[in-house]
Amino acid sequence: MIANVLCIGAGYVGGPTMAVIAKHCPDVRVTVADINAERIRAWQSGTPPIYEPGLADVVRVGLGKNLRFTADVDAAIADADVIFVSVNTPTKMFGQGAGRAADLQYWEKTARSILQHARGTTIVVEKSTLPVRTAEAMDRIFKNGGDGKRFEVLSNPEFLAEGTAIADLESPDRVLIGGAETPSGQAAIGELVAIYAHWVPRDRILTTNVWSAELSKLAANAFLAQRVSSINSVSAICERTGADVLEVARAIGTDRRIGAQFLRAGIGFGGSCFQKDILNLVYLCDHYGLAEVARYWEAVVTMNQYQKERFVQRMIRAMFNTLTGKRIAVFGFAFKADTGDTRESPAIQVCRELVAEHAEVCVTDPRALESARHDLGDVAGHVIFEPDPYAAARGAHAIALVTDWTEYQSLDYVRILSGMQRPAFLFDGRNLLDPDQLHQIGFNVYPIGRPDRTNL
Ligand code: UDX
Ligand code: UDX
Repeated sequence: MIANVLCIGAGYVGGPTMAVIAKHCPDVRVTVADINAERIRAWQSGTPPIYEPGLADVVRVGLGKNLRFTADVDAAIADADVIFVSVNTPTKMFGQGAGRAADLQYWEKTARSILQHARGTTIVVEKSTLPVRTAEAMDRIFKNGGDGKRFEVLSNPEFLAEGTAIADLESPDRVLIGGAETPSGQAAIGELVAIYAHWVPRDRILTTNVWSAELSKLAANAFLAQRVSSINSVSAICERTGADVLEVARAIGTDRRIGAQFLRAGIGFGGSCFQKDILNLVYLCDHYGLAEVARYWEAVVTMNQYQKERFVQRMIRAMFNTLTGKRIAVFGFAFKADTGDTRESPAIQVCRELVAEHAEVCVTDPRALESARHDLGDVAGHVIFEPDPYAAARGAHAIALVTDWTEYQSLDYVRILSGMQRPAFLFDGRNLLDPDQLHQIGFNVYPIGRPDRTNL
């Protein structure tokens, strides 16, 4: 029976996941540890350091009962029966595999701390997305431990999406647990299954070998990202030919074999996972001599890059081939709605390209302005950060909508238009707004993958 669960890494994955485990397993003590003491203080206060709908409520259920947050990682390791590792594994930016492989330095440091401070038998669970066969490497580190310490390494990739993390954790499509095909490996799998079985139906808990679990996570993200790139490639054809990508998406999505989800054309995917995981997969394929497979998946990222560039090119073309001195209000900066996260957000590239065109960029976002300031630090002199979308659009020549916040649907666009330069342009990078209505009130509208509504 597991009594003490620890998670190292109190980020977007570790924090919400542990809060939900604590809520459903009152008999288990759940600790979340992180080297970042400031982050830990925020979690302890009951106001999480990340914005995620419903998260604060779940955290408050456990605080003071069976959920605690600490910056003393080493002491927490000594008490734990199960240790989830959810530290970040960004794309490596130096040395071999730079720009593609995962940077595993935090992971390895964490493994070494576990080795040093753990006592007795410990189950170590990979939560971070890692290259296939990392568990094997971990096993080797742990085998050198000695001192009567024993470790079992499991892979339990997390499939939650930001913005819906709590719902995804409460009612997952599946929980995936990979472990060694040895008696002790199977026993460890059984312990972890028992935790999830507190609230997840048993038939949704899949068990596999470790490598399958690791690869499934990369493959799932690659498939999802591929769908986005596929529909975005179709949006480019639509813009050239007069077809409407919403109609095409509906027509193909009603085929049950294809399915309706993840067919929203836009300015490209962002977020901490998709690009990183695909690049990781590409690196892996090249490593194993599978050049054709590597190029196949690489094309998903290439298409994503193209989509972002295409968006700005369309703006330039529509606005008489020059943006110099023109004020552009960028609506949204987060990589998707309902999060303050801007990692790999398409908005970053869009803003940089607009600045390069000597436009006067004014960014607005309900949750991500602080991160935007940080991400655009080096060009901040050319960017205005404005929490109020009405003020952002005042005096603007164009609005570029890049994040699908629902609040942008209920703005008073008549009022917005009255303060803008004419002709007024609206580039809807998410097909969030009704282009006909906006055109009727006087905007020149350019939705993604749909015909322009313009009088020019
Ligand atoms: C992370 C990984 O990026 C992702 O690949 C994986 O699938 C899940 O874990 P996320 O939770 O979004 O995702 O990352 P982040 O919000 O950056 O949180 C990681 C936390 O780990 C940070 O709070 C960081 O301070 C902490 N950390 C990092 C440690 O506690 N120790 C370390 O050595 C390094
Ligand atoms: C993703 C996976 O969904 C999740 O299972 C995994 O654990 C982590 O990576 P996340 O990045 O949080 O989650 O968000 P997701 O909803 O998948 O969106 C990723 C990006 O794709 C966003 O920029 C989103 O705007 C974009 N997207 C998504 C589209 O452009 N069109 C779509 O139809 C769907």
